[in-house]
Amino acid sequence: MNKKVLIKTYGCQMNVYDSSRMRDVLAPLGYEETQSVEAADFVILNTCHIREKADDKVYSELGKLRDMKEARAADGREMMIAVAGCVGQAEGSEIIKRNKAVDLVFGPQTYHRLPAMLKQRRDEGRSVVETEFEVKDKFEGLKSAPQAVGSVASFLTIQEGCDKFCTFCVVPYTRGAEFSRPVEQVLAEAEKLAARGVREVTLLGQNVNAYRGEGGNGPESLASLVTRLSQISGIERIRYVTSHPRDMSDDLIAAHASNDKLMPYLHLPIQAGNDRVLKAMNRGHTSAHYLKLIDKIRAAKPDIALSGDFIVGFPGETEGEFEDTLNIVREVNYASAYTFKYSPRPGTPAAEKKDQVPEKVKTERLARLQALIVQQTADFNASCVGKTFNVLLEKPGRQDGQLIGRSPYLQSVHLAVRGLKIGDIAPISIKSVGPNSLSGHYDPVH
Ligand code: SAH
Ligand code: SF4
Ligand code: F3S
Repeated sequence: MNKKVLIKTYGCQMNVYDSSRMRDVLAPLGYEETQSVEAADFVILNTCHIREKADDKVYSELGKLRDMKEARAADGREMMIAVAGCVGQAEGSEIIKRNKAVDLVFGPQTYHRLPAMLKQRRDEGRSVVETEFEVKDKFEGLKSAPQAVGSVASFLTIQEGCDKFCTFCVVPYTRGAEFSRPVEQVLAEAEKLAARGVREVTLLGQNVNAYRGEGGNGPESLASLVTRLSQISGIERIRYVTSHPRDMSDDLIAAHASNDKLMPYLHLPIQAGNDRVLKAMNRGHTSAHYLKLIDKIRAAKPDIALSGDFIVGFPGETEGEFEDTLNIVREVNYASAYTFKYSPRPGTPAAEKKDQVPEKVKTERLARLQALIVQQTADFNASCVGKTFNVLLEKPGRQDGQLIGRSPYLQSVHLAVRGLKIGDIAPISIKSVGPNSLSGHYDPVH
């Protein structure tokens, strides 16, 4: 009998990858995916813990699910509820204490054991909490689950965890210590994806450029992994995210110049533009170091588009220090960027600081930073008009006869089908810019 699972995914791309692998693990048990909570026999919340109120949201969602579960029980129908991801990892059995309707709690490193957890839940009749992890075991455990492929562009987690301990961040606590998957394991997964029509892989890791995967003759760098991946037939495009400025090595920069499959787009967060703030964040780099790096990267690959993450209102941040963030954004000129208000996370050093910035100030700084970045993104997009890019066609558009693809710079591009199909990489000349996407025409002579 077919059962239905609803997986709600929050947070970063690593959670998106994890959710897709949860589906793979559940498929042999007869679970099909659904988007409807009414139809679901099993609901998994794959949660994120990075910002404030994340737990509140999870608990309020769980409250609603409990009501549904009770209503169903009255009709003799079952509903299983699980909390996965980084809130599951951080809160563990506390979640069951606060909401008895929750059947399973597990973290980002234990979901490969879902079939065993479900069995244990049924056999023992009590909720199961599994947050003890060995990342290595997860990837070993996942190898046997055939991977469903939903698109011609796919995520592939190659590295997890973080040893950097920025003072604002929970990731080192929720994802654990840095771990890199062995080279052969990554190549095998990429080959399987390519065989199923995947043409673009985005390599994922919280510190993806710190990758040091065992390669047989010792650990290999991300640059070397990228070289090997680009030799797999079918894989035409490679991206990686998220990088740390401290790990942006020369061989990786050189790969951007020499490897055409490596896309000219780099997400390299600096977080803040002021050196006192960067030090208080424990970032391990200064703004000058970052700018020098950007120069080196642009020298190697002049058309590279840059993206970043910024936090405003870190404890103690003054008006002048915030302006250093605006200045660095002006200096770098980003194609896109993510901006956040600092939010204290319990258990992190910055959360203990007495000089927290008032909410009003954070809101005002965020708006100023966002206005600047929105302008830079608009300018970057406008500069694409008249150019021709290779676009990977990913899905049908909203209108009949329309396809949506991605430019090398990760922009969404709309175009008319004109003999093209999903999975094609075609030269498209860009005609106009909308608020969130570009439109273009197929330009076969280019
Ligand atoms: N490993 C990546 C990013 C991880 S989290 C890196 O080092 O760049 C994604 C982004 O969330 C971070 O880059 C940061 O900008 C933001 N973030 C993390 N913790 C935060 C907090 N406590 N408050 C606000 N933003 C935060
Ligand atoms: Fe968090 Fe810093 Fe690690 Fe990124 S490098 S995951 S921001 S601790
Ligand atoms: Fe969030 Fe966990 Fe990713 S805290 S950002 S889902 S690593």
